[in-house]
Amino acid sequence: MTEAFRDRIDIALTVNGEPVEARVPAGRHLVDFLRLDLGLTGTHAGCEHGVCGACTIQVDGQAVRGCLMLAAQADGAEVWTLEGLTEQGVIRDLQEAFVARNALQCGYCTPGMLASIKELLDIGGVPDRATIREHLSGNYCRCTGYEAIIDAVETVAQARAGKGAA
Ligand code: FES
Ligand code: FES
Repeated sequence: MTEAFRDRIDIALTVNGEPVEARVPAGRHLVDFLRLDLGLTGTHAGCEHGVCGACTIQVDGQAVRGCLMLAAQADGAEVWTLEGLTEQGVIRDLQEAFVARNALQCGYCTPGMLASIKELLDIGGVPDRATIREHLSGNYCRCTGYEAIIDAVETVAQARAGKGAA
């Protein structure tokens, strides 16, 4: 239930499978709520205006920019961050492929990349490289040049489809 109280709003949501209740400032962005209020610093903040993709998380099964969504808008939602996805093991093959393919260097973009890629892989099948690039066009990486990231995604998609080994 959402209850407005001056500039604060009560929210109840699920974060990484755990119920969370909080009273948040109406203007609190979801990425700040996760990082500063819940201590889930695996989600990164970069541009903070919807461009770089560093803050990408999963909300109700979709990749969402945490800097463009208010915490109040997540009332009732199911939110997954890198911490929860890692603990669940649902992206372990992808994380291993990132390491094997050198698809991360500084790692700042990586949590957002993984959240976006999970959305693509959840569709199933083996996307071609152009589709992978298109899907990740909103996730900036200043280090890798993207080729290794595309390689990692392609490898995992093929492995999940039984056409190769991650
Ligand atoms: Fe959200 Fe850049 S920090 S898109
Ligand atoms: Fe450094 Fe992507 S690994 S920004």
